[in-house]
Amino acid sequence: MSWWWSGAVGAAKKKLEEDEVPRLTQSVALIIGVTGIVGNSLAEILPLSDTPGGPWKVYGVARRPRPSWNADHPVDYIQCDISDAGDTLAKLSPLTDVTHIFWVTWAMRATESECCDANAAMLNNVLAAVVPKAANLCHICLQTGHKHYIGPFEAFGKIKPHEPPFREDMPRLMNAPNFYYTLEDILSETATKTRTLSWSVHRPAVIFGFSPYSLMNIIGTLGVYAAICKHENVPLKFPGTKAAWNCYSVASDSDLIAEHQIWAAVDPYASNEAFNCSNGDLFKWKHLWRVIAEQFGVEYVEFDENEKWVSLAERMREKGPVWEEIVREKGLAATRLEEVATWWFADVILGGECLLDSMNKSKEYGFLGFRNTEKSLISCIDKMKAHRIVP
Ligand SMILES: NC(=O)c1ccc[n+]([C@@H]2O[C@H](COP(=O)([O-])OP(=O)(O)OC[C@H]3O[C@@H](n4cnc5c(N)ncnc54)[C@H](OP(=O)(O)O)[C@@H]3O)[C@@H](O)[C@H]2O)c1
Repeated sequence: MSWWWSGAVGAAKKKLEEDEVPRLTQSVALIIGVTGIVGNSLAEILPLSDTPGGPWKVYGVARRPRPSWNADHPVDYIQCDISDAGDTLAKLSPLTDVTHIFWVTWAMRATESECCDANAAMLNNVLAAVVPKAANLCHICLQTGHKHYIGPFEAFGKIKPHEPPFREDMPRLMNAPNFYYTLEDILSETATKTRTLSWSVHRPAVIFGFSPYSLMNIIGTLGVYAAICKHENVPLKFPGTKAAWNCYSVASDSDLIAEHQIWAAVDPYASNEAFNCSNGDLFKWKHLWRVIAEQFGVEYVEFDENEKWVSLAERMREKGPVWEEIVREKGLAATRLEEVATWWFADVILGGECLLDSMNKSKEYGFLGFRNTEKSLISCIDKMKAHRIVP
């Protein structure tokens, strides 16, 4: 653990001195989505002895049984379906000591309107279970993302997005529903009602992290793609567009996002604000492509503009049995291809143009964290290999 403490803790101390309100209760985190791409990072980082605001006691929620790759984190694991109001009330209302909620989950539905309803219901269920019982609840971190500035997936190409670099003060896009806006509104209404609760919104770019349970994991997906190319002895062709191959992009390391959320949770200066959260450097997919090829020992090839574009979802349509064979031959953890590879998401990311954001606001508010994107990529791949998700 490093960097941002100095600035952030300094700012927090200054504000505390000004307000003369020392923190008397133990910090108790409730991670909603603890096995997700950022949830797993929070579960790893929050319990560490030098994490700001700590020592933290940590609860973590997800629907599936606890996977082995999450089991070493000192977290009270709660299996609960937060889309079920009864289950949520029964399992979360007894957690009367919660001081902070980290919202790192979401539900995918066929349309954005349905996404608004489903995600609102999940957040309302958790708030209804926790807010009346947890007297010391003081802050909620909500993770959303760049779709705040470009609209939901279904609106791509249909509505005019904001022009990058995205800044937090850009107005909402009002001509399409967006579940991120719905969640922000629920949060700020709840904070206004309770008057003791603060919030922060975190808007990452595409996330580089480790979780075989994530609905959108670009590096996991590309790792599985590379393993399949290696197994079939074919070069690692870039399945995206020329624009995505050549343009500058930004990414967000999942550990950095966790640190950003913890910073906002404990520094009163960051309360009731929205922040972009990306690594602070730029990359091009054409450069990372060579790194991915090297990491998996598969032949690197340049983007070929003469080749007809075929989506990764289409290319990988029949590869379920191939993945089963790789898992068996290499002695990997048992996974289903559709679980570890989200082809549609890779098609979105590698089919787009540059989506840059600005980290100025985070820096001005005291968060100085950053990541080297290439190192972040390699560290995700190392973790996937260590947990035997990919060969
Ligand atoms: N992934 C990215 O690259 C990316 C980039 C930018 C923004 N975002 C945004 O970040 C937010 C969080 O997404 P994420 O990608 O971090 O999540 P994620 O990796 O897909 O993880 C979701 C987590 O929530 C749990 N979960 C899902 N439904 C649940 C339910 N009904 N009850 C209890 N737990 C449930 C999942 O475990 P179970 O399935 O076992 O329940 C998992 O632990 C979303 O708004 C997303 O749009 C993501």
